[in-house]
Amino acid sequence: MEHKGFTLWFTGLACSGKTVLADALAEDFKKRGMKVEQLDGDIVRKSLTSDLGFTQEDRNENIKRVTFVAKLLTRNGVAVLASFISPYNEIRAYSKTEIGDYILVYVKCPLEVCEKRDVKGMYAKARSGEINNFTGIDHPFEEPNDADIIVETDKQTIEESKQIIVDALEMMGYLP
Ligand SMILES: Nc1ncnc2c1ncn2[C@@H]1O[C@H](COP(=O)(O)OP(=O)(O)OP(=O)(O)O)[C@@H](O)[C@H]1O
Ligand SMILES: [Mg+2]
Repeated sequence: MEHKGFTLWFTGLACSGKTVLADALAEDFKKRGMKVEQLDGDIVRKSLTSDLGFTQEDRNENIKRVTFVAKLLTRNGVAVLASFISPYNEIRAYSKTEIGDYILVYVKCPLEVCEKRDVKGMYAKARSGEINNFTGIDHPFEEPNDADIIVETDKQTIEESKQIIVDALEMMGYLP
């Protein structure tokens, strides 16, 4: 069955669980026979936006390019999973306007918990000063006040967070 395209946009601190949840949902959507594409910060920054850094200007440019791609896919019936820290309200609002069928998921998790997880050792590097402009340490994260879905990954299992998102998408009529 053809389904309506949409972009599920994950915002949240590093190690909050954006990629893990996007991966889990991609599997779920594929099993439903949906067309799926993932746009993930780590991968995009090695390809489409490898020329960019982490200043506010570069972060905005990163999201603008990704939004351009997400928009094309969305209007062609693809379920797009976009996982980016995307810390600014203004640029998230831009993506929403551009893409249209855009569902914002706030992957909420306290900084202390994210820092303990430190999957890629980035928090340690940010604390020691080896890297700078790191979100939550020396760069801001603006909490969204317009999230369509909020998951709290310090209180839920990955499966529980995933189910909350699936249920919400079903209610919105996005799942076949
Ligand atoms: N309920 C949960 N949901 C998601 N992840 C969880 C949850 N509970 C524990 N975790 C763990 O938290 C970590 C999240 O890492 P992940 O790479 O998904 O973060 P991220 O938000 O994509 O970070 P980055 O911005 O650096 O890419 C994983 O190791 C995952 O197993
Ligand atoms: Mg990630």
